[in-house]
Amino acid sequence: MRKRVFSGVQPTGNIHIGNYLGALRQFVQLQDENDCIYCIVDLHAITTPKDPRELREHILNVAALYMAVGIDPAKSTVFVQSDVPGHAELSWILMCNSYTGELSRMTQFKDKSRASESAGTGLFAYPVLMAADILLYDSDIVPVGNDQKQHIELTRDIAIRVNNKYGEDTFVVPEGRFLKEGARIMALDDPSAKMSKSAENELSRISLLDDEAKIKKAIMRATTDSDGEIRFDPENKPGVSNLLTIYGVFTGTSVAELEKNYAGQGYGALKKDLVEVTIESLRPIREKYAEICASGELPRILADGAEQAGAKAEQVIRRVKERFGLGSR
Ligand code: TYM
Repeated sequence: MRKRVFSGVQPTGNIHIGNYLGALRQFVQLQDENDCIYCIVDLHAITTPKDPRELREHILNVAALYMAVGIDPAKSTVFVQSDVPGHAELSWILMCNSYTGELSRMTQFKDKSRASESAGTGLFAYPVLMAADILLYDSDIVPVGNDQKQHIELTRDIAIRVNNKYGEDTFVVPEGRFLKEGARIMALDDPSAKMSKSAENELSRISLLDDEAKIKKAIMRATTDSDGEIRFDPENKPGVSNLLTIYGVFTGTSVAELEKNYAGQGYGALKKDLVEVTIESLRPIREKYAEICASGELPRILADGAEQAGAKAEQVIRRVKERFGLGSR
């Protein structure tokens, strides 16, 4: 049976291979057999200050990259979050059904608020807006990377809580979908941290649109260890294991096979081959990206997407308002 799939990406910078291998790859896999909705979550992006012009650029950049990795707007709905008012509306309703205690426990909030002097209310409420995104479409499945596990759990808790209070069929209780390999790609310069769009060191990540020289530099300088053995052991050898994971997912080769192929060879050989593998894997994405940008189709695709998403969201908002006794009708 076709399921409703929903996921989103923040337009906060260039999408990197972590986003791709952990999340976007799933978006594409799921779209043939399911009813998929993929969002560019611009309201989440402004939880920390953003330059308006850059934000708009990043929104269009993520939209084009969605298409470049293989999301087909004829099969999936692609739209920008703030184009559908239901996200902010439902978010408020859910905020009135969530607790400051549970939000204080979110590790992403703890990490991000530690880095800034005064954490904004939006940053605190971020996971509730994410819950609204998901529940607004009666989503069954949410394909994401491992770092979103806690947010999905919270979404489920809120949905169950509301259902207990206002009726079992108020919300569909969603499930996260996490890949076995690639759900957590680590930073190349520091394999104890996840690869992220916001890390200061550009060489910590490979963005989908990086040129060959940058890809080469980031991989050749990737942090490994000193024992020289190519072995998959994320706990004791996080750097090498991360490279093996990336290599394995891009080529569809098991890590065990890679270990066998590289037995007795040094890290240099592995890195050199991974540079080639990464360049070749990203090449078609870069080419498709250029094509999409040149086609001038994006505004129409996003307008159609917003209309389709808006119509679906409207039904859920109506149902929720009715259950809660909100409004005059
Ligand atoms: P964002 O924009 O940080 O990341 C987008 C997706 O990429 C995954 N991801 C990773 N996967 C593997 N390795 C990594 N190093 C890595 N870094 C990021 C993320 O898990 C995510 O799936 N809160 C979300 C956006 C969001 C959302 C939603 C997602 C808002 N509303 C509703 C799903 C459903 C976020 O910040 O993603």
